[in-house]
Amino acid sequence: MDQSQKPFSSRAEYFESLEDLSLNPSAEATLGDIIGQRFSRRELLRGALGVAALGTLGALPKLSGARAADAPAESAQVPFGFKEITHGVDGTHHVASGYDADVLIRWGDAVLSGAPAFDPHSQSAAAQLKQFGYNNDYVGYVPLPFGSENPEHGLLCVNHEYTDEELMFPGLGSHDTAFSKASREIVDIEMACHGGSIIEVRKSGGKWRVVQDSRYARRISALDTRMRLSGPAAGHARLKTAADPTGSRVIGTINNCAGGITPWGTYLMAEENFHNYFLGNLDGNPEQASYRRYGIPGRRYAWGRYHERFDLDREPNAANLYGWVVEVDPLDPDSVPVKRTALGRFKHEGAESIVNKDGRLVVYSGDDQRFEFLYKFVSEDPVDLRDRAANRDLLDRGTLYAAKFNADGSLDWLPLVQGHDRLTAGNGFASQADVVVEARRAATLLGATPMDRPEDVEPNRVNGRVYVMLTNNYKRNPDAVDPANPRAANLWGHVLELSAPDGDHAATHGRWEILVKAGDPADPAVAALWNPATSEHGWFACPDNCAVDPAGRLWVSTDQGGNWNRASGSADGVWALETEGAGRATGKMFFRVPVGAEMCGPCFTPDGKTLFVAVQHPASDGTRDYAGFERSSTYEDPATRWPDFRDGVPPRPSVVVITKQDGGVIGS
Ligand code: FEO
Ligand code: CA
Ligand code: CA
Repeated sequence: MDQSQKPFSSRAEYFESLEDLSLNPSAEATLGDIIGQRFSRRELLRGALGVAALGTLGALPKLSGARAADAPAESAQVPFGFKEITHGVDGTHHVASGYDADVLIRWGDAVLSGAPAFDPHSQSAAAQLKQFGYNNDYVGYVPLPFGSENPEHGLLCVNHEYTDEELMFPGLGSHDTAFSKASREIVDIEMACHGGSIIEVRKSGGKWRVVQDSRYARRISALDTRMRLSGPAAGHARLKTAADPTGSRVIGTINNCAGGITPWGTYLMAEENFHNYFLGNLDGNPEQASYRRYGIPGRRYAWGRYHERFDLDREPNAANLYGWVVEVDPLDPDSVPVKRTALGRFKHEGAESIVNKDGRLVVYSGDDQRFEFLYKFVSEDPVDLRDRAANRDLLDRGTLYAAKFNADGSLDWLPLVQGHDRLTAGNGFASQADVVVEARRAATLLGATPMDRPEDVEPNRVNGRVYVMLTNNYKRNPDAVDPANPRAANLWGHVLELSAPDGDHAATHGRWEILVKAGDPADPAVAALWNPATSEHGWFACPDNCAVDPAGRLWVSTDQGGNWNRASGSADGVWALETEGAGRATGKMFFRVPVGAEMCGPCFTPDGKTLFVAVQHPASDGTRDYAGFERSSTYEDPATRWPDFRDGVPPRPSVVVITKQDGGVIGS
């Protein structure tokens, strides 16, 4: 299906359509080399590696939040005990029976002291800078006090990815007219809605609540949060602007999709579709070729009209200040967030990490675009789990790798190091700064494998494996499939499982296999792959975010975008997905979002008894296919007014907290 043939009913649908742009010029050249080689990947893995070889953490102590490869053996998986819900779509959310799913915080609710009450008819940037932002995505939990495993008191670190003007502001009409009507005031509110929120949350009397007037409360925004850049690109000429001739400072972060919490309790915010925010003409811009590879300028927000740092005519290098992973210390609301350039510049979906057996940190990150790559960063130094301050600059030194998936089930990690292989001055890589600024081109030159949109990547600290969500790629042609991206016109996505040799996540090789090929297993044309025990509601389409619970069980959330009706006919949600034993690859539906929303941010507390999820852009995507509504949503006429359901109050992206009514573990 070619979405470019349709008008867009929302910004989210437009974003989805941008994936039509196959910006990777190498995709055709590198695809098809390993066509048609088929064999049992699982058998290969069992024979060549053996899960008993997975490593241990050694002498390092476990610190709260540390994701350590500390379980040596495969064990039977604790079964998922809940009664699954059904596929469907309607105006509200649904959770398995026996569970509560309560709204914890909504767009516009207070974050900082003195925040005014949410008033959608009288918004201001000043108010929004004290309120919860729009389109909550990643959710991370840091127990309080730091170093504890407290499952009932902690900080939630929540990303606000983007804004949907047609649902946020009265009188703007459709998405297509919202841009032209964007005043300075609206732009500043949008910018204040982006970024992240840090809120203190506590469970008491059986219910979770946001702690008001918390000393940790913080809003990070695209409008006014001052940040610095560090690592190999900091201070380089390509990052220098009129506003900052040092090339080491920037205001704000944008399109923060997923992220991660480090073992030392910092919050990683991944900058994803950063190209959309820039205006300007590339003629004569020395970054022209590099920018084209990233789709810059995307011209989807009017910010550049009022803020020079989003106008490439006035600040030609400005787009090099975005596309990074930002590290924030949630325990210090006065700390300066840092963009860690050593992790590379691309459309980072997330930044989940694991402490390797040798103590170094390994951060996995997907580049969410069709035919882009999977990356990992391996720190040079080990994590100091006893002294969090000692890790302050750990993410500035290390090696970035891109993944090459081989047909024999092996995996090579290709080092993106200046001087290595073709990463030479002759090819435009005169320094490591050039390599990280143009990580995509560097990975292409080394022969990384173009993937079906890598989204969340989650190391599992119980079994030592890594789960990669590949959300979809309907642009992959039949002659360009490969064993790791095996379906042409892949509307449904798949999940890969990676294994590190001897549990060594820093190794430059590993193994891979397909866990599921998503989509309807009852439709032969889909060519899905599930455990036959999966029910008619247990399968999903378009895996996006995921989480591993404390028992090591995998949970997957989905984002079908405007394609939901064709991909599954059901709203997005959360599914449990078995990874071990006879039940491996069995899905089970646990939670469903209201119409037009996508499901983000699954996040467990350390006891597994609470699951936080983020309901993003309710009423937005694909509402023309919503029976009985069949039109695009606007502020005045949304497909649902979830979660308030009050006349005049628009739909509000919200974090939902799920607990079991008997107080037990989620999914027990
Ligand atoms: Fe923002 Fe790729 O999801
Ligand atoms: Ca998403
Ligand atoms: Ca995601």
